[in-house]
Amino acid sequence: MFSIKHGDIFPTSFYTVDIFDSQENQKYKDFLIQLSKKSSGVMRSNRGGWQSDITLWEHGVFKPLLEKVTNITQNIIESISQNHPQMVIRSMWGNINPTGGMNFTHVHPSGWMSGVYYIQLPKGSDEIVFEDPRPARMMDFQRSCLIGDEYFTHNPKVGELLLFPSWLPHFVPPNNSREERISISLNIELLV
Ligand SMILES: [Fe+2]
Repeated sequence: MFSIKHGDIFPTSFYTVDIFDSQENQKYKDFLIQLSKKSSGVMRSNRGGWQSDITLWEHGVFKPLLEKVTNITQNIIESISQNHPQMVIRSMWGNINPTGGMNFTHVHPSGWMSGVYYIQLPKGSDEIVFEDPRPARMMDFQRSCLIGDEYFTHNPKVGELLLFPSWLPHFVPPNNSREERISISLNIELLV
């Protein structure tokens, strides 16, 4: 038999961390619901859902979240590099998707790594879907016949922090539940 050696090139890493704290989670949820009643929000990748502006990080209520994200990101950086760049989070926003609310495919241009913290996830409408970002991949119909891996579906849990490269295209399918889907998104920038 031949000995077949397998290598991977250009792998894409993502990270998940359980940072759940019920009191913090409740405070985040209450804050966003209140804010959504006061502000009409912005339209970005969201359709049928509410999205806050990107200044959530200015509000003291989110300090614990910022500290956790910073700490976790520093750990990730240490695991991949000897360098110690400064990092900054200056865009952070809330998402409330009611029934039918969704986010079409997008990337986060201003970040190095992006994160989502999940506050409330309706049963059966918890997915975030990532797309293979390589344009040449679209040529590979023959591979598609072997393995359908153009899309990667992740099912997060409440209290999870999900981190992924900001350039990685992703979308959120329509919320098919009566419960709202609530999350906080953020971009992490490196000052290099
Ligand atoms: Fe996003």
